[in-house]
Amino acid sequence: TIKGVIFDLDGVITNTDEYHYLSWQKLADEEGLPFDLPINEALQGLPRRESLLLLLGDRQVSEEKFHEMMIRKNRYYLEFIESISPADLLPGVGNLLAELQANNIRIGISSSSKNAKEVLQGLGILDKVDAIADGNSVIQPKPAPDTFLHAALQLNLAPSACLVIEDAEAGVKAALASGMSVIGLGSIERVGNAHLVLENLEKVNWQNLV
Ligand code: G6P
Ligand code: MG
Repeated sequence: TIKGVIFDLDGVITNTDEYHYLSWQKLADEEGLPFDLPINEALQGLPRRESLLLLLGDRQVSEEKFHEMMIRKNRYYLEFIESISPADLLPGVGNLLAELQANNIRIGISSSSKNAKEVLQGLGILDKVDAIADGNSVIQPKPAPDTFLHAALQLNLAPSACLVIEDAEAGVKAALASGMSVIGLGSIERVGNAHLVLENLEKVNWQNLV
């Protein structure tokens, strides 16, 4: 039986994916790098460094320039999330979190982001979360299973007792590799490997899931 739910953050709990997208777009425009929706899909769920490597493609830059570009992208992103508030919780999320708490189901976050705590704080749900594994935890990034395993460890749960909710291809891959049950949100092309695919969390009830 499921005793904990581990949520991806960006694109599942809130729509920061849009802000990541706009920030990468701005950087790509400034640098004359090709950028379109398929490239953006490939970036989703990946940490900052891996995303920039993908974006650069064949372009060679010095380590110093690489670093500057990561900082610049994050500066744009931080400007976007400055004004994030509880109103930015995606539909159904607040309700699901409340249901989980009422049913004594533990709540974890597994995100590649180094800004996860700031985002959770802005959303007003930092105190609802029992474990956070994010881009600051010194572990292999998604699609490796480490952030999920790290969250489960903090929740004191075996992977088989955890259910993951993910929206990115790299994240579904990571969650499956961790041995957890996986719900994918969004298109079949992206998250079709998950055990169950839903459009979003809007009408999702805990009772109907288990
Ligand atoms: C999440 C997002 C990615 C983002 C990554 C790193 O996984 O889905 O699009 O690139 O976090 O986030 P950060 O906030 O550390 O740059
Ligand atoms: Mg995501």
